[in-house]
Amino acid sequence: MPPIRDSRERWGLVSILIHWLTVLAILFMGGLGLYMTSLPIGAEKVQLYALHKSLGISLLALVLFRLLWRLLNPRPALPPMPRWQRIAAHASHGLLYLLLIAIPLSGWVMNSAANFPLVWFGLIELPAIAAPDPGLRALAGEVHEALYWLLLLIALVHASAALKHHLHDRDHVLRNMLGLGPARPRP
Ligand code: HEM
Ligand code: HEM
Repeated sequence: MPPIRDSRERWGLVSILIHWLTVLAILFMGGLGLYMTSLPIGAEKVQLYALHKSLGISLLALVLFRLLWRLLNPRPALPPMPRWQRIAAHASHGLLYLLLIAIPLSGWVMNSAANFPLVWFGLIELPAIAAPDPGLRALAGEVHEALYWLLLLIALVHASAALKHHLHDRDHVLRNMLGLGPARPRP
């Protein structure tokens, strides 16, 4: 079992659980978003929109917590690799975090511009972050969807890189995020 906190050697339990929970949540939220918009107007649609928004806000909070946790913990060192790969890894991780924030935020802007209330799981009323504006609503909707596809594309490259480390370079990068680290390079 990995320790709770991250170290220079390995990812800790909190970061690992949040990483894989985020992966599941992103896939679920995307499926839900595409499904609910295809439904005819009715009770199911209204309920699924409410669920999508509440889960999306929860995911935003989780990512913000993850970033705070990241600030408070050292990070495992990457194995030796060419400079361009190191830069690509950092850039893609930064971009993934940026998208994980921009997608729910654009949803929130869309919802505010449509002048709909936002009540987190029927419990906490969240403020509007934009004034009512049909043009902004449409724009935020386009941005919301486009950023989602961009996230999936980058995540696909990211996952391929993780598999390449595991299968080709035979290093510890993926094992570490699976909680099996800190493994030395496999023989
Ligand atoms: C990370 C979390 C989220 C993901 C991955 C996500 C993804 C998606 C996707 C793929 C769609 C369908 C495509 C589209 O019509 O835009 C969608 C629709 C939608 N999302 Fe999200 N979303 C997230 C968070 C949110 C949040 C926090 C809100 C509002 C507070 C929100 C509000 C909406 C709305 C209102 C629609 C329907 C747009 C329409 O009727 O055309 N989403 N979302
Ligand atoms: C929606 C899908 C995904 C998202 C949004 C995502 C996001 C991220 C982010 C932001 C990091 C950087 C962590 C940090 O430095 O704080 C990361 C690391 C990592 N991810 Fe993902 N990920 C996704 C899917 C996957 C998949 C499918 C795999 C495996 C096949 C994977 C394997 C890894 C590994 C091994 C690391 C650690 C890299 C390192 O040690 O620097 N990820 N991921």
